[in-house]
Amino acid sequence: MPAKFDIGIVGLGYVGLTLATVLAEAGNTVIGVEKRSDLVDLTNEGTPHFTETGLPNALSGVVRHKKLVAAEAFDDTFTCDTYIITVGTPLSADGVARVDMIETAARDIAANMRDGALVILRSTVKVGTTRDIVSPILAASGKQFDIAMCPERTLEGKALQELRELPQIVGADDQAVADRAAAVFRKLTNSIVLVSSIETAEILKLVSNTFRDVQFAFANEVARLCDAFGVSAHEVISSGKLGYNRTNIPMPGLVGGPCLEKDPHILMESARSRGISLEITSAGRLVNERQPQETVSFISSEIERRGWTGPLKINLLGMAFKGQPETSDLRGSMSIRVLDALKKAHPDAQIGIYDPVTPEDVLAGEFPDENTYSRFGDAVSGASVVVLGNNHPSLGTISPRTIKEFMAPDGFVFDYWNHFSHLPSSELGDSYFAVGNSGSVPANG
Ligand SMILES: NC(=O)c1ccc[n+]([C@@H]2O[C@H](COP(=O)([O-])OP(=O)(O)OC[C@H]3O[C@@H](n4cnc5c(N)ncnc54)[C@H](O)[C@@H]3O)[C@@H](O)[C@H]2O)c1
Repeated sequence: MPAKFDIGIVGLGYVGLTLATVLAEAGNTVIGVEKRSDLVDLTNEGTPHFTETGLPNALSGVVRHKKLVAAEAFDDTFTCDTYIITVGTPLSADGVARVDMIETAARDIAANMRDGALVILRSTVKVGTTRDIVSPILAASGKQFDIAMCPERTLEGKALQELRELPQIVGADDQAVADRAAAVFRKLTNSIVLVSSIETAEILKLVSNTFRDVQFAFANEVARLCDAFGVSAHEVISSGKLGYNRTNIPMPGLVGGPCLEKDPHILMESARSRGISLEITSAGRLVNERQPQETVSFISSEIERRGWTGPLKINLLGMAFKGQPETSDLRGSMSIRVLDALKKAHPDAQIGIYDPVTPEDVLAGEFPDENTYSRFGDAVSGASVVVLGNNHPSLGTISPRTIKEFMAPDGFVFDYWNHFSHLPSSELGDSYFAVGNSGSVPANG
């Protein structure tokens, strides 16, 4: 491998590893700097540390051809033309976007770069982070550099495909720097959108995820309304769109994941720094964040209504934050909030979990107090309540009527994703409830 790499990527998580792989496949020499030694070792073996379509083959190929190498830290033996920061920006305990990992990455780059380097910030950040935090750290090195903000927008599960198909946003303060950053991504796609400033790119990223969060929140609001009137939200939403694409409301469901759980908060934090409060964004988060508690109240009231006296066995199926495109990622999963609410409401119940993608040993490591299952059949057998927590298609293949045959007598299914709401009620019986199709909002909820 050369002592000078075309590209250095700081942080080999979901974003960094997929980006490093496709940039290496495009012919660049790439070094990924990752502080976790276990991830460095896995990467150098050509093995991804998460589930992503196409990544195992692509990564092993670029590692074998010595286009991609991983290291635990920068050192004097190598330098890079371009640096891309892809470290995490989770919320801290007090709910604000963490910048410490961005600062460390910027300091490491500042020490390693040569005059004239290009530095691209790819992580999702509070507005102003590129100009007010990253740029001054780089400038303190006394070296000349260019800086651009090019946010990541891929969906987990489709990342490799989307890195080659989605328009890449490039935000820079002048045309020459924008062209330079665009050239990095033009090796992946001809679809580049140049925006007129760094802040435009930062806001664009936060706004697009917040828009999705707000749309999903509205769908969940429709579900609450329909539950209160005993009407199917699934029918209202799907019938309303037939031949009428002006009302393209998504289906209701749990809204979380590593991006949506935080990006609207980062947008609100950005707005507050300029004295503005974002009411719609705030209301959207409120609706989405209280849904687990609200729906578990319904599950509890249904358990009570059925008058169970024997041991209660509640199994939650679909723990990853989404099922489509499928992922094993548990970060920000609202199924975990549902699990917490179930445990709180039913401390004596036996609670079990299953996921179609996340391996059982990973679930057992993350949730040591719960029973774990590796097969759907085992996860529904003998259960008093089966909760379908994500939209993985496999959770929608066996009808509630068939599931019920394996469950405890008088058991029921609660479905966050309306997997079966298209079926006539005669097919569903009185043992299937879905968000917006169940009366699942308590009357005063
Ligand atoms: N996951 C997604 O699908 C997605 C999509 C769009 C945007 N984003 C944004 O991209 C950023 C990265 O997300 P992610 O999901 O890849 O995060 P992640 O936590 O999976 O990965 C970040 C990696 O950076 C490493 N790291 C942190 N500081 C480091 C340092 N100083 N030096 C070397 N390594 C360091 C961590 O060990 C970790 O492996 C976040 O800002 C996120 O909001 C993520």
